[in-house]
Amino acid sequence: MKYSIPDSVLLKAASEYGTPLWIYDRATIERAVKDVQVFDTVRFAQKACPNLSVVSLIRKLGCVVDAVSAGEIVRALKAGFKGGQQKGKVPEIVYTADIFDRDALELVKKYDIAVNVGSPDMIQQLADFGVKSELTIRVNPGFGHGHSRKTNTGGDLSKHGIWHEQIKDCIKLAQSNGMWITGLHMHIGSGTDFEHLAQVCDAMVDASRHLGSHLRTISAGGGLPIPYHEEEKGNRIDVKAYYDLWDNARKRIQQSIGHDVHLEVEPGRYLVAESGYLVAEIRAVKKQGSNLFYLLDAGFTDLVRPSFYGSYHAISVVARDGRELNETVDAVVAGPLCESGDVFTQEEGGFVVTRKLPKAQVGDLLILHDAGAYGAAMSSNYNSRRYAAETMYTKGEIKLVRERQTFEQLLQNDRIIEL
Ligand code: LLP
Repeated sequence: MKYSIPDSVLLKAASEYGTPLWIYDRATIERAVKDVQVFDTVRFAQKACPNLSVVSLIRKLGCVVDAVSAGEIVRALKAGFKGGQQKGKVPEIVYTADIFDRDALELVKKYDIAVNVGSPDMIQQLADFGVKSELTIRVNPGFGHGHSRKTNTGGDLSKHGIWHEQIKDCIKLAQSNGMWITGLHMHIGSGTDFEHLAQVCDAMVDASRHLGSHLRTISAGGGLPIPYHEEEKGNRIDVKAYYDLWDNARKRIQQSIGHDVHLEVEPGRYLVAESGYLVAEIRAVKKQGSNLFYLLDAGFTDLVRPSFYGSYHAISVVARDGRELNETVDAVVAGPLCESGDVFTQEEGGFVVTRKLPKAQVGDLLILHDAGAYGAAMSSNYNSRRYAAETMYTKGEIKLVRERQTFEQLLQNDRIIEL
């Protein structure tokens, strides 16, 4: 498996910062951002990789940002994005969620953050809180699709967005509170294919009829897939064709309402997934019956995607002592946690499988590829494991972008009460 960081750099980074370790390759992020900049606006779904250096880089490359929580608003501001909404200007930060918690509502008001509402209640809560602004709405078109059932965000079993038949009521609710809905947004899931995309575009055209001449912006949401399997590599989605479908929908809308409409896209995974590597050390090599296991110092507390969705991540091995790795074996790759689901080689449904991998020994590094999106972002402290350090490979050098959590930080908010 080829990757964009030299083995010597990986080895040096692993000994300098310890393992597990995240590495983001700056050049890969830059390439991905360029690919999607055919859209009028690229809004980074920072949930995929909220590291401040990554968000700042993406800002520097000309993107704006999405925030799904109060914490993500704070991060966006820290990374240099500004609140404030001006007529005719694309807002730098948009809060897109299905609820307001009280913290988010306060920050939205304080920094004049644009809101993409996902429930009618959000409109009322904004009004009750004294916020009067233009809004966009996230529409659930009545169907959805994703790379896993867990990433499908449309249809009547999904909690996301405003049901398409309620758009009219939301327009009325907004107007009766002195607000206008000027944009529509659809995100039906992560890992969308072209067949479903055409269906979403049609749904957007349908939804636009309710807004008529008030409509200024449509957002295609996120969901652009990346090739996770080795055999799909080199066969990346045709972003231009993806754009053309949306542009066609935009043109149909423009024709019916008689003025220009701005077209946004909101990718997370596409911008960062391929840039990210999770570097772990093999700490045990053992046999369970006829199955060989490589046990790592990284687990689902670091990268949860295989355990949660059965997601596939390509794997490479780098020999610590520089020896050639010519021999292959079938191995299960697992982590250190006290859970049988703590396995990186599994299929959807929690089935553990083996993978053909180089014959490795304790001390070798094992690299999980395409881990830049929903990797560190979904890490946890389960088993009291510390968050791993994050680094960026830029201009031939590894730079620390998040220190490894210390034991003090792990415990700092706990209180021992008098018992
Ligand atoms: N916009 C909205 C409103 C979203 O909910 C999401 C993802 C995105 C954009 C970005 O989607 P992307 O372009 O990254 O597919 N943890 C899962 C993915 C869940 C995504 C949730 N929302 C995974 O690891 O695959």
